Amino acid sequence: PAPVILDCDPGHDDAFAIVLAAFNPELLSLLAITTVSGNQSLEKTTLNALRILHACGFRENIIPVAKGASAPLMLPELADSRSDSSQHDVGIYPVEVHGETGMDGADFPLVAIPKVDERKAWHLMADIVSLYSAECPVTIVATGPLTNVALFVTLYPELRSRIRIVLMGGTFERGNIHPTAEFNILHDPEAAHIVFHSGVYLTMIPLDLTHQVLVTEDILRKIQSLDSQFAKNMAGLVEFFRDSYQKIFGFPSPPLHDPCAVAYVLDPSRFETQFIRVEVETGKGLCAGQTVGDFYGRFFVGKPKNVNVALKMDIGWFWNSMLQSLKKANEQ
Ligand code: BDR
Ligand code: CA
Repeated sequence: PAPVILDCDPGHDDAFAIVLAAFNPELLSLLAITTVSGNQSLEKTTLNALRILHACGFRENIIPVAKGASAPLMLPELADSRSDSSQHDVGIYPVEVHGETGMDGADFPLVAIPKVDERKAWHLMADIVSLYSAECPVTIVATGPLTNVALFVTLYPELRSRIRIVLMGGTFERGNIHPTAEFNILHDPEAAHIVFHSGVYLTMIPLDLTHQVLVTEDILRKIQSLDSQFAKNMAGLVEFFRDSYQKIFGFPSPPLHDPCAVAYVLDPSRFETQFIRVEVETGKGLCAGQTVGDFYGRFFVGKPKNVNVALKMDIGWFWNSMLQSLKKANEQ
């Protein structure tokens, strides 16, 4: 199985990413979860990660959870100038989409709080990656802003050859936090810039793909039919996310972004990708946080291709894997 560290900010869809990553042990070995501020504060995203793990049966610290960055690399000044979300303390928490807890709609019990690893996310990443080699690299699946990953590749450049990165983020169509920007990138564009220039082999799962992966009412019913407290909570997440997406974006059903990045590790052959040059706009203004891709290979002359962009996925296969994983989690 592929060794994986999941760096996330749960987060409704991050919660499903955790389940997909934790319940496919024959294809993916989940070595650790690291958390970052994004959908909510670091404290809340960390608590949410622990709650999800606990809810699907990981009562001990079998999978270490470590906290990372509590703010983007260059915030608060820059982010405030890029958005009008000045009501938030640090960063630009999308409360409208994910609620005050970051996972509104569910009420996961937390009987005993498992301990958080004492290491910072990037140090834990380094300790784990050191045990692997360039021949058997660790995949960092990033489903939140790229702050932790940027710090890791900056502090431990010698370990870059031992990792691959699969990230959910960016868009080449319309944005979801700015007209041309996707949330994970705009939350910390400098971090994204560092990661995109790191030389690490990157696979990007942009909104162009994830907006095709909608949790339809039929899928929601399948989750509900698992008929347990866990299923009720997972369905509650979908319902809250659905209502947000209907209200804000006019989507009939919510897209399930983050598990698509985990799915890429499970079976890359289910995806259609294009290897191109992608740059991140780190300036302010209309296009702040935009991911700019040279799909024709004509415009960024002299700059090597750096990102494997996923544009399509076998969606039937994805839902089959996701629902199987939820079923297994439900049986714990
Ligand atoms: C991304 O932003 C967050 O709202 C989701 O968890 C996902 O990672 C989608 O733009
Ligand atoms: Ca996320």
